[in-house]
Amino acid sequence: MLKNKKVLIMGIRNKWSIAWGAAKSAYENGAEVLFTFNGEENREKVEELISEIPNSKAYECSVDTDDEIKACLEKIKKENGTIDAILHSIAHANTEDLRNNFINTSRDGFSHANDVSAYSFVAICRIANEIELLNENASIVSLTYHGSTKVLEGYNVMGIAKAALEASVRYLADNLGPKGIRVNAVSAGPIKTLSAKGIKDFGSILNVVEEKAPLRRNVTTKEVGDVVSFLFSNMSRAITGQIIYADSGYNIMGI
Ligand SMILES: NC(=O)c1ccc[n+]([C@@H]2O[C@H](COP(=O)([O-])OP(=O)(O)OC[C@H]3O[C@@H](n4cnc5c(N)ncnc54)[C@H](O)[C@@H]3O)[C@@H](O)[C@H]2O)c1
Repeated sequence: MLKNKKVLIMGIRNKWSIAWGAAKSAYENGAEVLFTFNGEENREKVEELISEIPNSKAYECSVDTDDEIKACLEKIKKENGTIDAILHSIAHANTEDLRNNFINTSRDGFSHANDVSAYSFVAICRIANEIELLNENASIVSLTYHGSTKVLEGYNVMGIAKAALEASVRYLADNLGPKGIRVNAVSAGPIKTLSAKGIKDFGSILNVVEEKAPLRRNVTTKEVGDVVSFLFSNMSRAITGQIIYADSGYNIMGI
């Protein structure tokens, strides 16, 4: 599905990352894969991991400022030319905001979670467009979660950030659509990753999905990655501005 396409996977941390499942799927579908990771101190581990994917390259990219995003995307363009797809697989909230009741979220904690997890997607889309990093008919995808529309104990401020991210997907799809660029998000079911460890009682969320979801099981990073590959591919060329669930169907259930 992705033959002759160059894709940029932003937010690889380790082999449990959803970004890694997406990268493996993209590679198996024929894509050339580039990565970004956060923190120069993680370079060695990331490079060791991605060596499993031939010809892949990793670039350090913090999304904390527009200048850092711009410098990283410009470097990627300079070294690789234009690209066909971007996955934004980045989120962060302060631990105390995932431990206390939501009502206690601080002003700083609220803005940090929204800045890293939602605004970074807007900045990446804008900067990629401004520096003409994207080929015609490019596809941009982010990752979201059910906690954007439903209350899950412990998801707290991240639910608000995901709601902002999902609304951003729709506005960005409208802004970039006339250029043929599509913007979507995959709402993944819960998966045990480093980020998920920060969420209180995450294990019980996994158990409930296994018990109640129509497919009676949790999803894997590879399965989520396969949906990302579909959204990257020309097979999904009529889809933009959508939130596509890859969650064993859990989101359709009442109780
Ligand atoms: N794991 C789940 O259950 C689940 C479910 C639905 C959606 N998601 C979403 O999937 C995405 C990937 O998360 P994951 O679960 O694979 O965890 P992960 O910890 O493997 O990935 C999170 C990534 O965000 C990066 N990041 C955090 N702050 C950053 C910053 N300031 N600048 C640049 N990068 C930064 C981290 O370095 C890491 O690579 C996130 O958006 C997450 O909310 C996860």
